[in-house]
Amino acid sequence: MLDFDHDDKKILIANLGGKIYASDRICTHADADLSTGILTEDGVTCPLHLSTFNLKTGVPENLPAEVPLKIYNVKIEQNEIYIEVN
Ligand code: FES
Repeated sequence: MLDFDHDDKKILIANLGGKIYASDRICTHADADLSTGILTEDGVTCPLHLSTFNLKTGVPENLPAEVPLKIYNVKIEQNEIYIEVN
């Protein structure tokens, strides 16, 4: 996982099985930084209360988080990662 800031956005970049995904980095339940969480097969587990978010859909798979993470489109060109943030 990598963390990346752009303007006021805090973005998480994750490699899931060789494919790159990008999402908001702050847990939707409280103010935990997901880049310090645990990477799973399909997502990331929050370090604070252990909700796991699917990083392909943004959907939390268990409580206490109920609100999905925002997911960003990712494009890879010539080994550069581009994230569509608008
Ligand atoms: S802050 Fe992430 S699950 Fe509570």
